[in-house]
Amino acid sequence: MRILGIETSCDETGVSVVELSENGLALLEDIVSSQISLHEPYGGVVPEIAVREHLRNLPRLVPKVLEQSGTRVSDLDVIAVTEGPGLASSLLIGNAYARSLAVAADVPAYGINHLEGHLYSPFLSDGSSLRFPFVGLIVSGGHTLLVHAVDFDRYIRVGATIDDAAGEAFDKVARLFGFPYPGGPYLEEFAKQGNPEAYDFPRSLPGKDNYDFSFSGLKTAVRYFYEKHPHSHEDQQWIADLCASFQKAVIDVLVRKSVGAVELVRADTLVAAGGVVCNSLLREELARACEEKGIQLHVAHAGVCTDNAAMIASTAAFKVHYGCTPEIGGDINPNLSLFTREPAGDFQKGLDLAAKLRNRNAG
Ligand code: KG4
Ligand code: ZN
Repeated sequence: MRILGIETSCDETGVSVVELSENGLALLEDIVSSQISLHEPYGGVVPEIAVREHLRNLPRLVPKVLEQSGTRVSDLDVIAVTEGPGLASSLLIGNAYARSLAVAADVPAYGINHLEGHLYSPFLSDGSSLRFPFVGLIVSGGHTLLVHAVDFDRYIRVGATIDDAAGEAFDKVARLFGFPYPGGPYLEEFAKQGNPEAYDFPRSLPGKDNYDFSFSGLKTAVRYFYEKHPHSHEDQQWIADLCASFQKAVIDVLVRKSVGAVELVRADTLVAAGGVVCNSLLREELARACEEKGIQLHVAHAGVCTDNAAMIASTAAFKVHYGCTPEIGGDINPNLSLFTREPAGDFQKGLDLAAKLRNRNAG
């Protein structure tokens, strides 16, 4: 079964073809056309530019990906497209293109949740290792989420950011230091030369039972500190120490809460995905903490951490595998959530109830 994936939720145009067979999932072709250089002068994504680029890219990239993967339109069995969350105008372009192609080719189309795409991206090269339950950490420019994946399409919210996403905090602090957009990778490069213990920035929401995140206070603390020391701004070592200390503060919180969430739900697996997982210190610290606690860790391959269509096509493959019905003609949803069943905040209540039932059964 061949699946064409299309991702246009933000500023990357992604097109991919995957094949699902009895041997598992194979990634045949994957192209991401980055628009970073076009948005960089504005310090962030400009929706009008993103739309224009998606419109230009899709008719060029789809035939290219099909050709390079040796796929004719008539070979396609499924078309998958990100339906949300994301920028409405960008999502519309991808959806209009994908759904028109699905009608023309007479194949079913799946609308895919971008966050579900990130969640399963660590399993891209190894579909067979998709096992539930697990805890998923999704850290990107737009999201910071801890998810209890009970089963396919059954996700419970464990924690989320109450203000800035982790990647957003990286980008905002990087911008303060004059690094280009998106600043996360530049900040990491500088941090490599710095001392992470140089400055003790606040670790947010430290409560033992708190699995939410907040990075806005940390970002502001770095900004005040930076503005208070104008004479040090040209000192590269000082900037590197600031970067390393900020990065350490973010990573400490991400790792501690992720491991805590795995213990909380009594799972034995942690899955980490999203753009911020490109960060090598985060990968190292997650690996170290998981090894210490005997937790199995699946981390997205660096090539599929940031937005791409391979994760969208492969999530459609999992949907086929789990017997989900395709939704032809479905609409976009810029605020699409991962949590359709349990309302946010009821997680602890659910756990308490489960513990009560266990005790009763044991008695
Ligand atoms: O997943 P992604 O491509 O887009 C969203 O869905 O948001 O993530 C992009 C984010 C940006 O904020 C970027 O700065 C951050 O991931 N990022 C990093 C690194 N590489 C990308 N943050 C920290 N360290 C990195 N090496
Ligand atoms: Zn993303």
